[in-house]
Amino acid sequence: MRNGVLAVHADGTVALMNDEAYRIFDLTPRAADLGQPLAAVLEAHPDIVRVITSGFELSHLPNRAEMRLKASDRVIGYTLAQVRDARGRTTGVTMFFKDLTQVEQQEERERLRDRLAALGEMAAAIAHELKNPLAGIEVMAGLLRRQLPDAPDAHAILADIINEAKLANAIVIEMLEFVRPIRLQVAQTSLITVLHSAITMAESKARRGEVSVAMRLAPRLPPVRGDEHQLVQVFTNLLINAFEALNGAGTVTILARLVAVENRTAPGGERRGPDREIIVEIADNGPGVPAELQDRIFNPFFTTKPQGSGLGLAIVRKIVDAHDGRIDISTPSGGGTRFRVYLPASSLSTDTL
Ligand SMILES: Nc1ncnc2c1ncn2[C@@H]1O[C@H](COP(=O)(O)OP(=O)(O)OP(=O)(O)O)[C@@H](O)[C@H]1O
Ligand SMILES: [Mg+2]
Repeated sequence: MRNGVLAVHADGTVALMNDEAYRIFDLTPRAADLGQPLAAVLEAHPDIVRVITSGFELSHLPNRAEMRLKASDRVIGYTLAQVRDARGRTTGVTMFFKDLTQVEQQEERERLRDRLAALGEMAAAIAHELKNPLAGIEVMAGLLRRQLPDAPDAHAILADIINEAKLANAIVIEMLEFVRPIRLQVAQTSLITVLHSAITMAESKARRGEVSVAMRLAPRLPPVRGDEHQLVQVFTNLLINAFEALNGAGTVTILARLVAVENRTAPGGERRGPDREIIVEIADNGPGVPAELQDRIFNPFFTTKPQGSGLGLAIVRKIVDAHDGRIDISTPSGGGTRFRVYLPASSLSTDTL
């Protein structure tokens, strides 16, 4: 991972800013920035300007600190150092920093995985215990129905009891499915096949109505390294949510493209991920997800739907994680909801499929 370097003179003008620093600040390198006031060059990052300025005033500089850049939502780890002249006067401040965003995302995923593992064990135990009494309720309500041949009112109530028990049982089964560890059958998987199956599957599970589905895949996409069946489930769940959000009218857009990956070093190791990944976007022009809920929608059991179990996106995230991929949600400028799934691309070309 490369270092960003930023050096500032005592008068607050920029002495040096390397390419990595420009990249982390999302700015285009300009030679003319040298000699300009830092506050002007980093207008979009007042938080950095504040930290550097404090570097002139503090007697003990942080050896290693972290901060989140508000403008770009990147996390950086940094060290500050004062530059002194022969008489010990501070003539400048230098900041060395690294982009920790990917490292932080990885740690966050690991924390979530641990949390889900603990939660999963408990949920599996509860689900197991619930299955028998639920089956008992269903069987006994059936028996009672046969013993009361001439009581239509009682029959209606018993039918409700049986239906509710069935519903509860379906949730228990879905929960067991969710907590079961995933075993991937990884192969070179064609994305187009996966997406077509997912559309068909989603149509059978949710009402599509007049919703139009547009699919635009970049030409010559390489296969994905993944489990076809599990990936179909990922896109099926996302499409079901889109159909449900659109309630019979609107547009779903599916896009896929190949991108090069930079900076894939894992924390504490040199493990490298794939050099290329495929980004699949599923966007709809429905009501969208309010910003304050976007953090929570991947949590198991989070739902805003009366009949929802809230496991759809939790399962999606679990499968994507198992593929060493990522998923995020954003709001397109025109409104609606956009999910982006990042999957490792195979190093094979399309022609080998
Ligand atoms: N495309 C979307 N548009 C608007 N809201 C969405 C969309 N996708 C997900 N959501 C929100 O995220 C919540 C969680 O979704 P998730 O798929 O995990 O559960 P669910 O759809 O409510 O239930 P389940 O999928 O288990 O039937 C939904 O209840 C909804 O509020
Ligand atoms: Mg759902």
